[in-house]
Amino acid sequence: MPIDIPPEKDGLVPTLNHMGWMTVGLDQFSRSFVDFAPHAPGPVLDIGAAYGIASLAALKNGATVIANDLDARHLELLEKNTPKNHRSRLSLMAGAFPENISFADHTLGAVLICRVLHFFDGPTIEKSIAKLFRWLKSGGKVFAIGETVYLKNMQGFIPLYENRLKNPDDAWPGYFENVHEICDPDVKDALPPQIHFFDLNTLTRCFEKAGFTIEKAAIFGRPEYPEWARLDGRESAGIIAIKP
Ligand SMILES: C[S@@+](CC[C@H](N)C(=O)[O-])C[C@H]1O[C@@H](n2cnc3c(N)ncnc32)[C@H](O)[C@@H]1O
Repeated sequence: MPIDIPPEKDGLVPTLNHMGWMTVGLDQFSRSFVDFAPHAPGPVLDIGAAYGIASLAALKNGATVIANDLDARHLELLEKNTPKNHRSRLSLMAGAFPENISFADHTLGAVLICRVLHFFDGPTIEKSIAKLFRWLKSGGKVFAIGETVYLKNMQGFIPLYENRLKNPDDAWPGYFENVHEICDPDVKDALPPQIHFFDLNTLTRCFEKAGFTIEKAAIFGRPEYPEWARLDGRESAGIIAIKP
């Protein structure tokens, strides 16, 4: 049972299960999720919510939110920090997406999956997106955000990734299982061994294959990231996909 949320450092809050950090602010795609959430055609799901940076903002905006995380302790802390007047619109769902959580088809209004898909291999990303398509109502949207390879603490991967991009037969150029060997040694204890660096071609292809229409897809900078992570304005990638 966790006692409290670990202290923030450089705008990042460590997760309790060494799966990276929660940001203390909302990126442009998460902000779009929070704005859309109260108008979504059903309850919204925040996958990998951690301590609830986006869930709390969506609740504050009036949405009905299901917060999911692999680590139930994160969700207990989120609930503890949810103002009483919002708690009736918050449900908690601990478990690993996509294998251990489920919803009836055509029930959700929107899904945020922020900085979680980038831990999955290619086939799991495809399986995940196919499930989201089934769970969403028509008009529902997915907001997905992940890191690109263009992070200072990951720059050892850049030549390897760019070399893979030259091979048109490599469907998953961003997937690596040796994070701990190549990343900046200072961050390795905070991360799992596998990472899937995002790019817009791969993201768009996966969402279109599942049946989604793309509303927006963009690479964006993270000026708010700490100096040890920020590189050149291409740190993250995001997509908004609509179920027709
Ligand atoms: C890097 S943090 C991101 C937190 C927050 N969404 C953000 O963007 O700041 C990843 C979070 O996703 C959770 N997570 C990782 N894999 C998951 C999975 N398969 N299903 C549900 N949650 C997962 C971790 O426990 C952690 O809290």
